[in-house]
Amino acid sequence: MKRGNVKNLEKEKCSGKIITLTVNGEERLVAVEDRDTLLDVLRNKLSLTGAKEGCGTGECGSCTVLLDGQPVLACLMLAVGVVGKKITTIEGISAGGKLSPLQTAFIDHGAVQCGFCSSGMILSSTALLSANAKPSRQDIRKALEGNICRCTGYNKIIEAIESVKDQK
Ligand code: FES
Ligand code: FES
Repeated sequence: MKRGNVKNLEKEKCSGKIITLTVNGEERLVAVEDRDTLLDVLRNKLSLTGAKEGCGTGECGSCTVLLDGQPVLACLMLAVGVVGKKITTIEGISAGGKLSPLQTAFIDHGAVQCGFCSSGMILSSTALLSANAKPSRQDIRKALEGNICRCTGYNKIIEAIESVKDQK
């Protein structure tokens, strides 16, 4: 458990309950209300702001995180419902401050423009490549169908993913 969390909880006025979430390999104590979404808790209580709130209604994919390795929409999940699951956010996929190969490929291929969709795109494609090291272009498009990008036209994102696939 991360030191400092308990101290923060003491300071925090919350009428809800205290739960333990496993986030990026660490157990984090957090005070939540039953209605709090996973996205709210990650961003506002755990200061993990990589997952973005676009629509808040399950339409855009900008809030995508991994739950036991599978992409999920954090805006649609209640924090109390994911106790005991392994949550991975974009902050958790770089090791020792080194970007993951996919993160580097997104930068190298110009697949990040405003960046609002990027964490969701990268986490969805991380899950894809974990399950299928050599996805076809169609597989990539299918894996990203829940992630909307307003900037890139998608081709640069697909090229970035294909470049990592080709390294495997
Ligand atoms: S913010 Fe979750 S799908 Fe858009
Ligand atoms: S880079 Fe701007 S929404 Fe995708």
